[in-house]
Amino acid sequence: MYKFLISSVLFATISLLPGQADARDDSLYQQLGGTAGIEQIVEDTLFNSIDDRRIRHHFTEVDMVRLHEKLSEQICELAGGPCVYTGDDMVKSHTGMGVTRADFNALVEAMQLAMDDNNVSVTAQNRLLALLAPMHHEIVGL
Ligand code: HEM
Repeated sequence: MYKFLISSVLFATISLLPGQADARDDSLYQQLGGTAGIEQIVEDTLFNSIDDRRIRHHFTEVDMVRLHEKLSEQICELAGGPCVYTGDDMVKSHTGMGVTRADFNALVEAMQLAMDDNNVSVTAQNRLLALLAPMHHEIVGL
């Protein structure tokens, strides 16, 4: 019993040691170039989207500064970075927009182009896209 108590206390103490508690994997965040890298990728993605005839109509009358800020936060958090997403949920953000599967794929292309331009490795690109792909359920067809 005493042995159990002592090891429990030891375990609790070790778990609380500074630096030990945070075992978050931030490797994707690092591969994307940290916060500055992600902000640049998102900026380029948004410019590419506005340049793309297939999807530019979605971005007229949108607060692009806010969109840039929220999308950067979201990607930073998803990639394991030290950010907290403070925007609306995906359903609320895209309801009424009528985003199609083709629009979704066009945005993914815009992001791939942005990541190419920012020298992100194909492995890291695929890691990010794999995190975003499941979100289409919350974005397409609303
Ligand atoms: C995985 C894919 C996507 C992600 C992660 C994503 C993420 C976001 C985020 C974080 C916001 C901001 C929410 C807020 O303001 O609180 C947003 C808004 C928006 N998204 Fe998406 N989005 C995706 C796909 C798309 C697609 C395919 C389109 C259109 C082609 C699109 C168009 C927009 C527009 C126009 C807004 C601004 C809405 C407004 O301010 O009224 N998004 N999205």
